[in-house]
Amino acid sequence: MKRNVCYSFDSHMRQQRKAEVAEASLPRPPLKWAGGKRWQIPILIGFWQQAGNVRMVEPFCGGLAVTLGLMPQRAMLNDINPHVINFYNWLKRGLSISFKMVNDESKYYEARDQFNQLLRGHWAG
Ligand SMILES: C[S@@+](CC[C@H](N)C(=O)[O-])C[C@H]1O[C@@H](n2cnc3c(N)ncnc32)[C@H](O)[C@@H]1O
Repeated sequence: MKRNVCYSFDSHMRQQRKAEVAEASLPRPPLKWAGGKRWQIPILIGFWQQAGNVRMVEPFCGGLAVTLGLMPQRAMLNDINPHVINFYNWLKRGLSISFKMVNDESKYYEARDQFNQLLRGHWAG
């Protein structure tokens, strides 16, 4: 009995490792998003594969980590944040970024101010 448990654990670890390797080759989310669930993909992928050819429904898609990790053929994605949905709609239309993306605090605040200014203009009518 004990040996079976060990075997099952080994097998589980092998499967988990395979899932981790597969995950490394998947597309990365286009945004850094608080609460992203990319780290759960090695666990979720087994359940997803068992489900067969079904449509994925993600009511809180956020940064798309789960969706891109499972790569469903069909998906219905939703989020309450209109800006993230707007961004994905632009991506679908082929959005390209014309400035260099750098990990820099002052650039971040500059871009955030620009974004907020755009929003103020938008909501002002
Ligand atoms: C933790 S994030 C989701 C992360 C995503 N599953 C992933 O792996 O990248 C939670 C998301 O839920 C969205 N959200 C919160 N309340 C919501 C609501 N009532 N309806 C739809 N989306 C909502 C937030 O805007 C946020 O993007």
